[in-house]
Amino acid sequence: MLFKLTDEQLMIQNMVKEFSRKVIAATAAERDKTKAFPAENFRQMGELGLMGMMIPEVYGGEAADAVSYVLALSEIAYSCASTSVVMSVQNSIVCESLLKFGTEEQKLKFLVPLASGDIIGAFALTEPDAGSDPVSQTATAVKEGDSYVINGTKRFITSGENSRVVLVTAKTDESAGHRGISCFIVPKGTPGLVVGHLEDKMGLRASDTTDLIFENCRVPCANILGKEGDGFKIAMSGLDSGRIGIAAQSLGVAQAAFDAAVKYAQTRKQFGSAISKHQAIRFQIADMATQIEAARQLIFSAASMKDRKEPYTKEASIAKLFASEMVNKITARAIQIHGGYGFTKDYNVERYYRDARVFTIYEGTSEIQRIVISNHVLKDKRKP
Ligand code: CAA
Repeated sequence: MLFKLTDEQLMIQNMVKEFSRKVIAATAAERDKTKAFPAENFRQMGELGLMGMMIPEVYGGEAADAVSYVLALSEIAYSCASTSVVMSVQNSIVCESLLKFGTEEQKLKFLVPLASGDIIGAFALTEPDAGSDPVSQTATAVKEGDSYVINGTKRFITSGENSRVVLVTAKTDESAGHRGISCFIVPKGTPGLVVGHLEDKMGLRASDTTDLIFENCRVPCANILGKEGDGFKIAMSGLDSGRIGIAAQSLGVAQAAFDAAVKYAQTRKQFGSAISKHQAIRFQIADMATQIEAARQLIFSAASMKDRKEPYTKEASIAKLFASEMVNKITARAIQIHGGYGFTKDYNVERYYRDARVFTIYEGTSEIQRIVISNHVLKDKRKP
């Protein structure tokens, strides 16, 4: 491995690997069928410090670096992608947004229970008609006395049902474009916040994805995150970190599919020998190993830049673009190596293939990553 991990990073990786392969993997295939949310697993992950890894200890976190975080997230994704997406959203766009933009009071009230894993959080940006273009969102927040009244529908919200706190964006000034979007902290149970349609998805089936409907939902002014107009910036900076997370998730699933394919190739016999002896399979294995290693280095590189507090928007998008496209190729090849068996639910590669499909879509499609990367490279911004 080119990137040299520290003893502490290796220790975290090994600890999470052992937990993930023993506890998370045990029920992953079953939960893919039943769609059961792994609440007990998240409780244990909270105890291990995995739900607010990069948050300072004083706010309930582990104060780990971003490299340790991507190692841990990859190990969880290796066993269960549904579990890893909840971990990713919680650690990055939820906890980090509160850390970066929250007041001391908001941190103590909301960040501490989130980072310690006592509760799950959600980030609600996307709407039925505003996905890649969040500036066109139509949810509104109108100031009335000492509160804001939020109206609108958010869509495809990870942990929409199982979260206890939602960070939601809404327009406070219709005429100000991205500077008219603000972000609010809304605890579940607030009158006017209703969980809507639960999506029946191709993959990530044990992670709930729902609509969240805000109907005259009133929150105190103290629940605005940052200032009025900061909402788009909060979402974009949260997504920078989130995109490294989705890349790490892609790496974990790719590694799982690759390991399964190698194992199968070494045991499956055709034409008198293990299929791993055939060059057609060996070359595929070589290509898969190369792609996975390239993604790993891009992820470490982006995470290290984040740790050094350097700007890393472009590198996060590069890692996300490459890793999410890579895992789709790797999981497809893993099925090919398994032949007909790979097409059945008796082998995990079928689940990996379905889970991986959304990685090039959520937290910014591959097309959006290319816009972000080319804007940074050319330094003359083109609109989508
Ligand atoms: N960090 C902080 N601020 C940023 C930023 C970043 N990475 N990127 C942009 N900004 C700021 C800019 O500085 C600018 O602010 P000022 O004008 O005040 O200086 C402002 O945001 C607008 O910047 P741009 O003009 O560059 O933005 P844009 O309008 O051209 O849009 C975009 C950029 C890349 C297309 C963006 O809209 C985008 O990323 N779209 C995709 C959205 C997305 O990823 N959605 C996924 C939903 S979340 C999800 O999937 C959740 C889940 O549950 C898994």
